[in-house]
This record gives sequence, C-alpha cells and structure tokens, in this order.
Amino acid sequence: MNYETILVEQRGAVTLVTLNRPKALNALNGRVLSELLHAMAAFDADPSQGCAVLTGSEKAFAAGADIKEMQAQGFADMYGHDFFAGWDAFTRTRKPVIAAVAGYALGGGCEVAMMCDFILAADTARFGQPEIKLAVSPGMGGSQRLARAVGKAKAMEMCLTGRMIDAEEAERAGLVSRIVPAADLVEEAIKTAATIAGMAPLAVKANKEMVNAAFDMGLSQGVQFERRLFHGLFGTQDQKEGMAAFVEKRAGVWTGK
Ligand code: HXC
Repeated sequence: MNYETILVEQRGAVTLVTLNRPKALNALNGRVLSELLHAMAAFDADPSQGCAVLTGSEKAFAAGADIKEMQAQGFADMYGHDFFAGWDAFTRTRKPVIAAVAGYALGGGCEVAMMCDFILAADTARFGQPEIKLAVSPGMGGSQRLARAVGKAKAMEMCLTGRMIDAEEAERAGLVSRIVPAADLVEEAIKTAATIAGMAPLAVKANKEMVNAAFDMGLSQGVQFERRLFHGLFGTQDQKEGMAAFVEKRAGVWTGK
C-alpha cells in the first residue's frame, strides 16, 4: 500500500508511525484509518518488530476526526455504515503501541491516543473532547476511555465544556504516563518502545492483554484472567530462559516460544 497520510519507519525492533497531514493538523479521515490499519497489521505480523510508537507533528498529534469529511453526512450514512467502527480494529493490535503526543490531541485525536496502550506527553501536549462545540459528541470511544482514565468529574467537564487540559493536568489526572520535553518526545518514546521490544514477546502480549482486561472485567474475574495467563507463561521456553538467566546472573535471550 502506498501511504499518503502516514510515514512508517523501522528503528530496530520499533515501528515508528507518524501521522502526516500537516495542512489539516493530522485530522483523521478514512484514508488515515485505512493506512493506519494496514501499517498496524504489518507491524503485528512482523516478528522482527516488538513495539510501535504513534506520533504526529510538533503542533498536533491530531486535531480530531476530519470535520470536512463528516460535515455533509446524515444519520443514514453514519449509522448505516457504522462510521468510526473501523477504529475498533486498531485497538485489536496485539503488540503494544505507545502514543507520543505533542501539541493538540483533540476529539478523535485524543480518542486515538487513548486507544494506544499508554500516552507519553510532550510538555506542549493539550488534550480535549471539543465535539460538543460542533453539536456532536465523542464517537470513537472517548467518553468511555476518558471516564475510565481520568474519572467521571474531569471527563464530564471536558465533554460538556470542550475545555482542553495541558500536559501537567493530564499527568495529574492519570491520562498520560509521563511528560517529557517536546524536543525529546519521539526519541524518548522510541527508547521506551525499545525497552518493551527487548522483553520476551509472549510475556509482552500477556501483560498487555491482562492490563486491558481491567477495563472490561470485574475485579475477581480480572484477577482470575490474569492468573490463567500467568500460569500459561510457565508453558513457554522464554520463562525457563528468563528465570535461568536471573539465577545465572546474565541477560535472557528470547526465542518468542
Ligand atoms: C478538518 C481541520 C481540523 C479537523 C483543523 N483543521 N482541525 N480540518 N478537521 N478536525 C484544519 C483547519 O480547517 C485548517 O485548514 C487547518 O487545519 C489549520 O487549522 P487552524 O484552525 O487554522 O489552526 P489554529 O488556528 O492553529 O487552531 C488549531 C485548533 C483548531 C485549535 C486545533 O484547528 C481546531 O479547533 N480544530 C478543530 C478541533 C475539533 O473540533 N476537533 C474535534 C473534531 S470532531 P484550512 O484549510 O482552513 O487552512 C471529532 C469527532 C469525533 O473528532 C467523533 C464524533 C463525531
């Protein structure tokens, strides 16, 4: 596939995906979605790749879904085609994806950042769900993921007023894992992704799956789910290698089996 709206490069075991519609502040249209799904499927299927970073520009991670694409659509178009349902496939990426956010992450931009496994924020990052100002609402899971990430009060205020929060407020609220200087954002995200890519691949998948389960399951069901995956990892060669390497005071060498 010839990418027009994203850039994809491999840095060792890390896939760096950069949203690239600078004139529209990386507004997310159908083309971005199909290119992103194609790139993430290739990343997931490539055994040489262990973790991805999704980023935008200095000014905008993404300023939202493409308003100009949605403007003329009616209920029959939106409901009939289940508009935005395609983004669910992005969340089914099995290897970790880190969102590296500088500048605006608004509306669908904030929602896509929250679909990633965690968000690393530049000190310039600003997050918001301003859809209410367009007389609509989040439509890519933002009301649900934001409420789970920052709690009801802040999510409700952000959705009802469209108020943006800066990186500091986002970190205090638990929306982002940490803040880094804007100039270091992408390199820091790649470094973090490389750390993850250096772990045993099956353990990485299992850790991602169990943390995500916390958002869908009750506590006792989630704890049970975690324990079963944990037990399952004892059927892997890498568990034997990981524990032997610890005892022998050397680095583990993973086979992904
Ligand atoms: C389409 C967009 C866009 C968007 C910006 N642009 N955001 N195009 N969809 N979401 C375009 C502008 O039209 C403009 O194009 C160019 O990008 C630069 O934007 P400016 O507004 O001139 O930049 P600036 O003055 O710096 O303001 C930045 C901004 C503002 C504060 C981020 O662009 C803004 O408010 N954007 C919309 C944010 C928003 O409402 N997002 C939610 C979208 S709805 P031209 O051609 O004029 O140069 C959404 C829905 C999710 O995400 C699901 C429910 C439907």
